[in-house]
Formats: sequence, structure tokens, C-alpha cells
Amino acid sequence: MSDKDMKKPRKGFLDHHRVLERNATLLLIGSFLVVSIGGIVEIAPLFYLENTIEDVEGMRPYSPLELAGRDVYVREGCYNCHSQMIRPMRDEVERYGHYSLAAESMYDHPFQWGSKRTGPDLARVGGRYSDEWHLDHLRDPQSVVPESIMPKYAFLSDVMVNANHVADLVATHAIVGVPYTDEMIEMAAQDVRTQIDPFGDTDGLLERYPGAAIRNFDGERGVSEMDALVAYLQMLGTLVDFSTFMPDESR
Ligand code: HEC
Repeated sequence: MSDKDMKKPRKGFLDHHRVLERNATLLLIGSFLVVSIGGIVEIAPLFYLENTIEDVEGMRPYSPLELAGRDVYVREGCYNCHSQMIRPMRDEVERYGHYSLAAESMYDHPFQWGSKRTGPDLARVGGRYSDEWHLDHLRDPQSVVPESIMPKYAFLSDVMVNANHVADLVATHAIVGVPYTDEMIEMAAQDVRTQIDPFGDTDGLLERYPGAAIRNFDGERGVSEMDALVAYLQMLGTLVDFSTFMPDESR
């Protein structure tokens, strides 16, 4: 560089920005460009991912009886007081168990995550209590937890499940993407009754829904909404075996 060049005051790089700052339209166009690039970088890869939910062993669609119970759960608005999503924070994991995986609610339409916890999270309530406890608790919560503000749901024992309605429910879930096969839809009405009959022919049911609990949940004749709800509560969070579960870190 010659001496002459050195003396000349150099225009700083940031001085160019002045042009943008003094022209609102140009600034607007510039901002739009920057935001678009940022958006494309974040959104475009999602179009090329086949799946954003990690496959997890053990997940299966709800059995027809469990699905009927889930329908009662949604209808009665249990989600107004209960969430079904254990967050990956120490206090939650110590209280409720392993944090919830995305795959665990992939067959839920609509999902039941929620953030309103008047009562405890129910994502892993399955197997925590006996059927008898659930029956007593649902019929009269204050008989087992005196300070409970949960309403009584005794009437569910008197309402019978309409198996044909459940078959329609299964077919509807198939339409929105739950992998129910034609056979599952065809057998749904039958499967509702089979699941509360431990002496029936349960092989087909267990093949379709591995691990489904087969017993008369409320101990009474017929498939009541109480049977369905308890069947649903008792399977919540039990499908994935967390003693062998390894998160796929390549994703
Ligand atoms: C008005 C709020 C409210 C509604 C609605 C409600 N619950 Fe609860 N639930 C609670 C509260 C509070 C508790 C904690 C005290 C107790 O165990 O009764 C609870 C506890 C529970 C428990 C025991 C959980 C545990 O880990 O100890 C279960 C299971 C449960 N509720 C199921 C249901 C179901 C199923 C429905 C819908 C049919 C429902 N609740 C509706 C408030 C509610």
C-alpha cells in the first residue's frame, strides 16, 4: 500500500448498513430475505424426513375395549384435570416414571398431553393400582382418597358398551391413520366381548393386540363403560418395556 492510500479514511463495512437503515422499503425487503432463509433452513428438512417419531418396540394400536375406554375418558373430560405427558424433568420422572416418548401417543386421536394437572399425570398409571382400587376410586374417589375433589363416576357401571359403535370407532381411527387392519375392524365388535372373558378363545385377540389384559375388569356381567375405562387406565404407559428401551441417538 502507498502512503497516499493509508491517509484516505476508509469506509467501514457497517457504514453500508446505513443505506438500509435510511430506506424503510429496502429494510423491509432485507428483513424478509433474512427471515425466509432462516425459515427454509428450519422447515425444508422436515419435508424430507420420513418420520419424526422414533419407532419404539412394543407400541400397538389400542384394543377395541381400550379404545372404548379412551372414548369414555375423552367424553367425560378427564383431561380437564389429568395430563398424560411425563416431562423429562427429574421431579416428574421420580414421581411418575420414565418420561413420555412421542411414540407412546402416536395412536392417540386426539392426544391427551395437556398441562392442566388438578389430579396427577396418568401417562403411566397402568398397573399401579388393582382393578378393585380403580373401581372403588371411580365410583367414589373420596372413599379411597378422602381429600379428593374428583367427581364420582359410578354411573359408568350401568352403561353398557355398544360393540358395534366400537367397531365404527376402530374404523374411524383407521381412516385417520392408525394401522388397524381390515381383520381388526371386522373382529372389533367380537374383541370387545372377548377381552373381558378369560375363558373365551383369546388367541386371535392376543395376536392382534399383544399384551392386552384379558379379565372381567368390574367383575360383573356384560361389558360396561366401567370395564372399558378400567381396561384403558390399566394399559396406560405399559406397552414399552423400559428395562430394554434404548433411545435411538442417531436421530
Ligand atoms: C375435577 C378434577 C378431576 C376430574 C374431572 C377427574 N379427576 Fe381423576 N383425580 C383428580 C384428583 C384431584 C386426583 C387425586 C386424588 C385422588 O386420587 O382422587 C385424581 C386421581 C385420579 C387417579 C389416581 C391417579 C394416581 O396416580 O393416584 C386416577 C386413575 C384418575 N384420577 C382417573 C380419572 C378418570 C378416569 C377421570 C374421568 C372419568 C378423572 N380422573 C376425572 C381430579 C379429577
